[in-house]
Amino acid sequence: MQSAQKLELALTLVLIWGLTQSLVESRRWQKSVQLKLHRETNHSKVMESFPSQKLRLKEKLSTTNELVISSASASDTSVARDNLFNSHNTEYYVTGSFGSPEAQQVTLLMDTASANLLVYSSKFVTESCSGHSGYSSSESQTYQANGTAFEIQYASQDVLKGFLSTDTFTLGDLSLENQTFAEINSAPAAMCQQSNYDGILGLGLVQIALGGVKTPLENMWDQGLIDEPVFSLYVNRNASDASNGGFLLLGGSDPTLYQGCLTYVPLSKVAFWQITVGRVGIGSKNLCSNCQAIFDVGTSLIIVPCPALKIINKKLGLKEADKKNGVYIIDCSKVSSLPNVVLNIGWKDFTLTPSDYILNYSGTCVSGFSSLSDCNGTQAMMDDGEDLNSMWVFGDVFFGAIFTLFDFGLNLVGMAPKV
Ligand SMILES: *[C@@H]1O[C@H](CO)[C@@H](O)[C@H](O)[C@H]1NC(C)=O
Ligand SMILES: *[C@@H]1O[C@H](CO)[C@@H](O)[C@H](O)[C@H]1NC(C)=O
Ligand SMILES: *[C@@H]1O[C@H](CO)[C@@H](O)[C@H](O)[C@H]1NC(C)=O
Ligand SMILES: *[C@@H]1O[C@H](CO)[C@@H](O)[C@H](O)[C@H]1NC(C)=O
Ligand SMILES: *[C@@H]1O[C@H](CO)[C@@H](O)[C@H](O)[C@H]1NC(C)=O
Ligand SMILES: *[C@@H]1O[C@H](CO)[C@@H](O)[C@H](O)[C@H]1NC(C)=O
Repeated sequence: MQSAQKLELALTLVLIWGLTQSLVESRRWQKSVQLKLHRETNHSKVMESFPSQKLRLKEKLSTTNELVISSASASDTSVARDNLFNSHNTEYYVTGSFGSPEAQQVTLLMDTASANLLVYSSKFVTESCSGHSGYSSSESQTYQANGTAFEIQYASQDVLKGFLSTDTFTLGDLSLENQTFAEINSAPAAMCQQSNYDGILGLGLVQIALGGVKTPLENMWDQGLIDEPVFSLYVNRNASDASNGGFLLLGGSDPTLYQGCLTYVPLSKVAFWQITVGRVGIGSKNLCSNCQAIFDVGTSLIIVPCPALKIINKKLGLKEADKKNGVYIIDCSKVSSLPNVVLNIGWKDFTLTPSDYILNYSGTCVSGFSSLSDCNGTQAMMDDGEDLNSMWVFGDVFFGAIFTLFDFGLNLVGMAPKV
């Protein structure tokens, strides 16, 4: 049995295979800085890891799409608009930097289901993880040694190891002092070879942070860098709209990015970003009542319990034979006749249309719903013993339709349909 704390990253989707990047651009916009980065042009496979179970989600993907996630607070005093980019609607990255006076720039995977900041150490990159950027403490004047050992284990049995260090961490123009993070000096070769990020930015609650480390978000709040203890996500999934990938807003929200008012729901458990969903239905069929859902921008699809997946697939006309590399392939010509999926959250209905939940990779249409296990009885347990098989995981398919605000002061989530 692994120690509970090692499994926190387990909901993170790990992207494998190389991606090429181009286009680095930055511009100032109003009071915030928006950095537009990384247009990805290739991505073939995705691997996904969950707690206590190896889950590999391999997708054949071929579209190109850029996501710019930026950060800004609505009532900004100081606002960082940061760079996030989308890898084919399956993953979102942000560019940050470590150290000072010289900023050591790295690409970080965004993850709302973990709460630690991790970065490869430069020594590790040089010795055994080429093609990445790493952090070099000796090149920073603000480095403070800590040295506490750090270890995180994926459900896939992949283990990341390292030690804690403290330094300045910068996102957009928010410069966070004394941020403690893990310098990774051991990672699976496959992760080094096949992922295109240099670390992970955990946007989870401090309650799930490993090693008693204060999260970057908590630190931003404590240091007065953001006006409110919140962040929000606007994810653009329009493959042909390469210049607008979306935004990560630190410290606020932006009413121009959503319709109507935000519907707020308290967290049902203060660990993951987890809520109770009143009902989920597809067409006239009920899929669940008062079910638990976790928000995870680190997961590309919507993960549903096996009984619900069976109903969804029946409604979509999908059979097991349509499953290829872990995802269900659907005939694109059927998409327009598929039913809506309705999520009743906080007494409000949020609708996912077929174009929201079907991903179209240059003519290959993929269902946005998948399950954690093969639905053959394998149990996937969370570190606290909760049965993950009954858990819904709202991944990027959800964020593509719904603007979401995360409030770590009040422990609630606010949602509204995107504009
Ligand atoms: C995309 O990546 C795969 C795996 O890394 C590689 O085999 C393939 O040649 C790449 N395609 C392009 C167009 O770069
Ligand atoms: C960061 O740590 C240094 C050294 O301990 C201290 O002087 C400084 O005030 C700290 N900064 C913040 C914002 O806490
Ligand atoms: C290392 O960081 C942890 C988490 O912030 C802290 O509790 C611990 O006291 C630090 N240790 C040292 C030696 O600085
Ligand atoms: C996607 O982006 C393109 C280019 O900006 C735009 O013309 C098109 O209307 C967008 N599609 C949707 C569904 O918003
Ligand atoms: C899927 O994408 C292809 C080409 O990229 C396009 O021709 C087709 O209309 C799309 N189908 C749907 C259902 O969106
Ligand atoms: C059940 O799922 C596991 C894990 O994917 C797999 O190894 C096993 O072969 C499956 N069993 C059956 C009967 O399909």
